[in-house]
Amino acid sequence: MKRSSYCGDVRENCICKEIVVCGWVHSRRDHGGVIFIDLRDREGILQIVFQPENKEIFKIAENLRSEYVIAVKGLVRSRPEGTINPNMLTGTVELVVAELKVLNTSPGLPFEISDYVETSEELRLRYRYLDLRRPNFQKNFIMRHKISREIRNFLNEEGFLEIETPFLTKSTPEGARDFLVPSRLHHGSFFALPQSPQLFKQILMVAGFDKYYQVARCFRDEDLRADRQLEFTQVDIEMSFIEEEDVMDVVERMLARVFKAVLDINIKTPFERISYENTMLKYGSDKPDTRFEMEIKDFSQELKNSGFGVFSSVLSKGGIIRGLCIPKGASFTRSEIDGLTKFVGEYGAKGLAWIKITDTGAESNIVKYFKEEEIEIILSKLNAKSGDLVVFLADEEKIVVQGLGALRLKIGKDFGLIDKNKFNFLWVVDFPLMEWNKEEQRWQALHHPFTSPQDEKILTKENAYTAKAKAYDVVLNGIELGGGSIRIHSSDVQKKIFDILNISDESAKEKFGFLLDALSYGAPPHGGIALGFDRLCALLAGEDSIREVIAFPKTQKTVDPLSNAPAPVSDKQLKELGVRIAIKQAKD
Ligand code: AMO
Ligand code: AMP
Repeated sequence: MKRSSYCGDVRENCICKEIVVCGWVHSRRDHGGVIFIDLRDREGILQIVFQPENKEIFKIAENLRSEYVIAVKGLVRSRPEGTINPNMLTGTVELVVAELKVLNTSPGLPFEISDYVETSEELRLRYRYLDLRRPNFQKNFIMRHKISREIRNFLNEEGFLEIETPFLTKSTPEGARDFLVPSRLHHGSFFALPQSPQLFKQILMVAGFDKYYQVARCFRDEDLRADRQLEFTQVDIEMSFIEEEDVMDVVERMLARVFKAVLDINIKTPFERISYENTMLKYGSDKPDTRFEMEIKDFSQELKNSGFGVFSSVLSKGGIIRGLCIPKGASFTRSEIDGLTKFVGEYGAKGLAWIKITDTGAESNIVKYFKEEEIEIILSKLNAKSGDLVVFLADEEKIVVQGLGALRLKIGKDFGLIDKNKFNFLWVVDFPLMEWNKEEQRWQALHHPFTSPQDEKILTKENAYTAKAKAYDVVLNGIELGGGSIRIHSSDVQKKIFDILNISDESAKEKFGFLLDALSYGAPPHGGIALGFDRLCALLAGEDSIREVIAFPKTQKTVDPLSNAPAPVSDKQLKELGVRIAIKQAKD
């Protein structure tokens, strides 16, 4: 009994043909002496029929249980009138079994294999091989394969070379925590798993490979969220003799090709571009979700002379006032508004000022502090109408931006303002070169210290904080899909940047000396980008979490319940590595 077809591929053109299918017993129904089994394989489900006339086989069929593995041979026929299932691709046909072979059995299952059964994540990951049998997962991984195939085909056709870079390496300045691997032959020394292939891909440009890509595994010891894993996959790209536009163009065409091939959707290129400054102002985020409007507006100028003490005192301390309009929000009760105040409180906001717009005018406990003209300005700038609620935050910039940005998203989600069928791509450009590290009281590179400034000639220590970078992030529906930059290829500019960042010659040499050496031997102008491949797959598959498109992910607590990693190792292994455990953690 050699398989001749996938269950999910059988259609009307197979009627009257004899076929062999293999798969798992998805469900069994006994109907007045006839047994129906939904047989499942990776391509889908086929209904197979056991008729009582075939006594021997019928007897075996009576004992088939969920997830038994069987092979069956038989004739395909059309389903009788009234039994057609329009929800199944194979819904007009069925297979009448002539031969049956039971290939394997299975004990009772820890959970039902169905897209519609909720099971705890811990249990799902412990029995991941069962979890992955769900039809939705099979679909996701077939899609993931298609996406990577399209990406590879595209980049190959564009003349990119796929080159691998090492996993056992020195830490790269990517900003997250490294995973360390102790060296057996050099006790006390450690390899780091790469957070990205950043330094190596730049060195490949110095080596003259011109256009490189890699579907690269990256490792970052960060706290996990829906869109973060300890190990994840990047589509990593680097190109020589190019400018920002060239990288953006390649990425746009690559994504357009993927969306066409996988979802048959034409995405509009070139993508919209928005400066970092503008997106932080309008959306309170560097990865704006533009599928709905609700733009944030600044009122620091217009309300600077208002009689409201909170506002004037914030402004006198160098803070800002911004607000947004919640459509139809005037119906909020006091306790609902208190809920919003609490929500922005998590971002450090000390309160939330609000005004209800009603048919009879503006209503709120603070309206009395504002002149008629000020209310007019607020309404017209926010385009607020009767029935809306206008809210304001006054505080230091970071708190206002983050608080209103998060509130905007929350309202968008809670009120169903987001059109789930939209794919809104955009580029965030004109990033600042540096950001102020408040804890350490120093400037640090916003991306990494090899990012090229937009105008290196006018860059000085004094004006560095206003400098912009040749950096770009591609954002889809409020998720950062990827980011990259044009790199510094001149040693002089690199020295200047290290100097501004207060990175000493010795420290630079120790951390990334090998890259600096390489750059000094005739580095071409170059730049690149990395796209989060898992995030791309999740977005295409319509999943909220990247765990739904990663075969063996870690849980929120960063463990793998399937293999039980991480786990202690033997004393012998530790000794060989020259490692001693100083602090044993209590088990929780
Ligand atoms: P960056 O750090 O922005 O850039 O990473 C690029 C993209 O990788 C994805 N990503 C992640 N996905 C899942 N889990 C994670 N923990 C995780 N961290 C990042 C995101 C992100 O946009 N070397 C530079 C790229 C360059 O400059 O060329 C880099 O790694 O989608
Ligand atoms: P109060 O005068 O302290 O009762 O505040 C009046 C209103 O202003 C309340 O709705 C507060 O939530 C709000 N409020 C207080 N501090 C701020 C702030 N920093 N930004 C915005 N609104 C505030």
